Amino acid sequence: MADSLEDTLEERVVWPSWLFTEMKTNHIGELAAVFMYIGAQRALILKFKLLSFCPYFIKYKEPIKKAMNFVRRQVETETVHFKIMSSLLPQTHQTRFCFFWRINAFLLGFLPTFIAGPRALYWTVYAVEKFVEKHYNSQIIKIILEKLPVPSLLSLLKNFKEDEVYHQREAAEHLYGRFDHPAILNPAIISKVWTNLVYYGSLWAAELVRWI
Ligand SMILES: [Fe+2]
Ligand SMILES: [Fe+2]
Repeated sequence: MADSLEDTLEERVVWPSWLFTEMKTNHIGELAAVFMYIGAQRALILKFKLLSFCPYFIKYKEPIKKAMNFVRRQVETETVHFKIMSSLLPQTHQTRFCFFWRINAFLLGFLPTFIAGPRALYWTVYAVEKFVEKHYNSQIIKIILEKLPVPSLLSLLKNFKEDEVYHQREAAEHLYGRFDHPAILNPAIISKVWTNLVYYGSLWAAELVRWI
């Protein structure tokens, strides 16, 4: 990874301005991912403690523990993604509103998980990661179409995209056992409304980052 990171840094001399802007969205997106999962982690810990006083605790114990393991793994991967994006993007191109995105992302992880539990978390993750997959994919396609000489960055973005697809699959599998389950492809109305809100909210957030 160290070698390829150096190669990727060297390729920066040929980055066009649109790629700096896209990398700015990737940098803040990965920061947001870390904080979304940290928010979910805090909600699960709090929920676990509060529910331990409930007579039906046994019913909630295992799903919460499973979700804790799921979230812990995502925090690890997203932290690696964020560190790599931070080292690639010069500070002058990074957004000055990190705090704002951290709070929003934290709440996106915390609130649904605390209010509605692990299943709401999995639907949130599914929608966010679906957006991130499309986001990285559009950058990969643009780099290929413009024939930009950035092979290391291209393979890095492909690797990141694969990680995000894996997160999406994992969330779906936690919900219905498999990624292509009909209830995932055609969700119930409440899940549909929520995932659309999260997906298009992420889309607008990325657009906003491009402009500020
Ligand atoms: Fe990521
Ligand atoms: Fe992810």
